[in-house]
Amino acid sequence: MSIKDQLIAERLPEHVAIIMDGNGRWAKQRGNSRIFGHKHGVTAVREVTEASAELGVKYLTLYAFSTENWGRPKTEVDALMALLVSTISSETKTLLKNNVKLNTIGCTETLPKSVRAKLNDCIQKTSGNTGLTLTLALSYSSRWELIEAVKNIASDVKENKLDVSEISDGLIGDYLSTAGIPDPELMIRTSGEHRISNFLLWQLAYSELYFCDILWPDFRREDYYRALLDFQSRERRFGKTGDQIKK
Ligand code: FPP
Repeated sequence: MSIKDQLIAERLPEHVAIIMDGNGRWAKQRGNSRIFGHKHGVTAVREVTEASAELGVKYLTLYAFSTENWGRPKTEVDALMALLVSTISSETKTLLKNNVKLNTIGCTETLPKSVRAKLNDCIQKTSGNTGLTLTLALSYSSRWELIEAVKNIASDVKENKLDVSEISDGLIGDYLSTAGIPDPELMIRTSGEHRISNFLLWQLAYSELYFCDILWPDFRREDYYRALLDFQSRERRFGKTGDQIKK
């Protein structure tokens, strides 16, 4: 039986988050520039997006550009921004065909105007779609997001729009850029690195973490199905005992 056929539809995660890592190493192994790796990474983005839409995963969040990535050489940052523009342009039609809604999280005001314009155009065109929500984390870091949330909560308390006693787990979630999106049940990181790297720190509190050695440009549907199958074999206890969960 294929890996896909072994998946149990009712036990698929509603939200999968992915740290797409290893583009630079993949390119280096081929004696090429880092951007060559990023360009090939787009194939993997397409594969996981289409597979998610097809399987009925409701939310897919991809870490495409971190706050820290601004510190990379300007040539790489510029090439990544250009790649975002060209990919969104070429993929909008497929997103519409597959009923995928595009969303972003992160400090997107810091992105170049051309990227913001392309993103806004695609977000607007796909806003009526009801299938998969594809969220690109761009100029995103979890600490940035938490700082923004704390500032907004403090300001609402100061303006008497919120009482301190109302601050709860749920309320903090409502002040994050992922408000309205359930926490990921599964987080995948490729390339053999075992870190969270400032990605969705609050939201990953109870997520299952899956690490694999494959470099992102080589990640294919089968690898994604393997991660989902591994997720389905895990017992999620949320701090309770195994016996309590089975009841
Ligand atoms: C990490 O690999 C990858 C990135 C920082 C960029 C991810 C971008 C893409 C996959 C392409 C465009 C994406 C979309 C959504 C259109 P790395 O460069 O850190 O690799 P390394 O660890 O091997 O150096």
